[in-house]
Amino acid sequence: MVIVGNWKMNKIVSESVKLATELVAAASSIQNVVFAIAPSYLALAKVSDVVKGTNVKLAAQDVHWENQGAFTGKVSADMLKDVGVEFVIIGHSEQRTYFGETDLSVNKKVKKVLSLEMTPIICVGETIAERKAGQLELVLSAQITGAYAGLSGDEAQRTVVAYEPVWAIGTGVTATDDEAQQAHQFVRSMIAKLYGDSTAQSISIQYGGSMKPDNAAGLVAQKDIDGGLIGGAALQVDSFLGILNAAEMRRQ
Ligand code: PGA
Repeated sequence: MVIVGNWKMNKIVSESVKLATELVAAASSIQNVVFAIAPSYLALAKVSDVVKGTNVKLAAQDVHWENQGAFTGKVSADMLKDVGVEFVIIGHSEQRTYFGETDLSVNKKVKKVLSLEMTPIICVGETIAERKAGQLELVLSAQITGAYAGLSGDEAQRTVVAYEPVWAIGTGVTATDDEAQQAHQFVRSMIAKLYGDSTAQSISIQYGGSMKPDNAAGLVAQKDIDGGLIGGAALQVDSFLGILNAAEMRRQ
């Protein structure tokens, strides 16, 4: 089980430190779930000091694929690694929709993050129009094939996938357990096609899109759902903890 809280463009540094501090205290008994928080770039260094030595891991919301240099506004994988980041969210649908992220840029970022021994969380998912047009599998297979292009089996094994139906993100509408399970099963079958069954079985596939304490248990009970990428519900300790507890219970 891997649960990651994506704080998106929320919380100034002091608020981020406060939330992280509260989470460290509240989640100290979580043992069987790997979990992380992804504050803004600006808050990473301070939040890193708060979570160091605890069971809370640090994630970033994006990265640039180049090492360094004249790339105004961007943050390199080196910089993230330096402040203790372990997971990097790549190809989030908001990046794809608003900021021109493509399967090619996702692929470059994934390779860079893997080269520095961090874990990329590769986000995939269809829009409602694509789902209605029967293109779910077409979209997922293009996104997966693009993200994994040129990766070895060993590299693929060190990735996490987040299936996030775009129509469920921030809308309060969640995919049903069955809808999510079907998509997850398809993603796993795609990885199996590319890298074989044992790699496919070993990769965690998170669900994302309006995951909350009251629907988390049903989702994580599904065979191919191995965790969650949480937006809105990660902004309060209680709701994030509720999801962590649901994941913790599934494990036992
Ligand atoms: P949400 O966001 O939980 O607010 O729907 C999920 C995400 O964007 O990762």
